[in-house]
Amino acid sequence: MKAVWYDRTGPAVQVLNYGEWPDPQPGTGEVRVRLYASGVNPSDVKTRDGLRGPMTQPFQIPHSDGAGVIDAVGDGVSADRVGARVYVWNGAWRRPAGTCAQFICVPAEQALPLPDTVDFATGACLGIPAMTAAWALFADGDITGQTVLVAGGAGAVGEIAIQLARWAGATVIATVSSAEKAAVASAAGAHHVINYRNDDVLTAVMACTGDAGVDRVVEVEFGGNLALTAQIIKVGGVIAAYGSMASPTPELPFYALMFRNVTLRMLLVYLLNPAERAIVAARLAAAMADGALHPRIALRVPLDQAAAAHEAVESGAVESGALIGNVVIDIA
Ligand SMILES: NC(=O)c1ccc[n+]([C@@H]2O[C@H](COP(=O)([O-])OP(=O)(O)OC[C@H]3O[C@@H](n4cnc5c(N)ncnc54)[C@H](OP(=O)(O)O)[C@@H]3O)[C@@H](O)[C@H]2O)c1
Repeated sequence: MKAVWYDRTGPAVQVLNYGEWPDPQPGTGEVRVRLYASGVNPSDVKTRDGLRGPMTQPFQIPHSDGAGVIDAVGDGVSADRVGARVYVWNGAWRRPAGTCAQFICVPAEQALPLPDTVDFATGACLGIPAMTAAWALFADGDITGQTVLVAGGAGAVGEIAIQLARWAGATVIATVSSAEKAAVASAAGAHHVINYRNDDVLTAVMACTGDAGVDRVVEVEFGGNLALTAQIIKVGGVIAAYGSMASPTPELPFYALMFRNVTLRMLLVYLLNPAERAIVAARLAAAMADGALHPRIALRVPLDQAAAAHEAVESGAVESGALIGNVVIDIA
């Protein structure tokens, strides 16, 4: 098969190799997926760059997210699954062979049904961005009728969080940093969009909630936004945080949070347990069945140009807004 791999960490153009690689064979309990799309996420890029520590295995085919068709199964897996369209999660999490290749073998439960109505590029955005958004929203049950603030509403996770929250019947407020990102957040379904560079977010949130505040925050920058979040969260509210890049060791306003019975929920999507994974998978399946999930794709490149995809994510082009949305590799 054709694959992209690295055997040392470093800059994408220096360490990513493209070429022939042995076809993997499914082991017991595994399916083999013929991949048509592979999603590139910030953590794939950080891992390749060495920011997550030294390599623990001799090689790495990167990327955890992908989508394709099951073409073979191992012992213990029903042959009925051959031919099924699927999306893959955790493909490269603590595993050497990820989705940046024509084939991947994964435990059968790591390949979930992808409806005919959902294309493979979208399928390649589900394992990390959509599952992160879904757990941040639904970890504590239904959000129908709640008010949800999605910080960074035009990010890969944020945009999907808006779509899912809107689909689930929440009132959605999003923060963004530019007019272009405001348009993306609005198109995703946000009822209120606040430019956090130009506007006073506290005043704006209170104005659009009738001074009530919000029930839930889907937070991309926990530390950086905490002083604000602590003021807009309702009693009994939940702050579900999946990032804190700018302020990784924030000072916690304990009493402000305690006197509102706030739950802080830190999440790493790779570590969802089977019961949690089932919850997010069911929510995504239902949202897809309703046609409610349309992650924006910022950039698509062919497999032999994977380094360009990594550079786009790494350069900050996505973060800065030069590219808005997910980066996907098409696999011919
Ligand atoms: N814990 C997990 O399981 C998990 C899962 C997925 C991703 N992540 C991490 O989460 C981060 C985002 O991932 P992504 O794929 O969504 O990246 P992305 O597409 O680049 O989106 C990040 C967004 O964060 C926004 N942002 C940055 N600082 C902000 C602030 N102070 N307030 C509001 N918004 C802010 C940016 O929007 P503006 O320019 O509009 O501010 C940007 O659009 C990365 O660090 C990634 O590694 C963690």
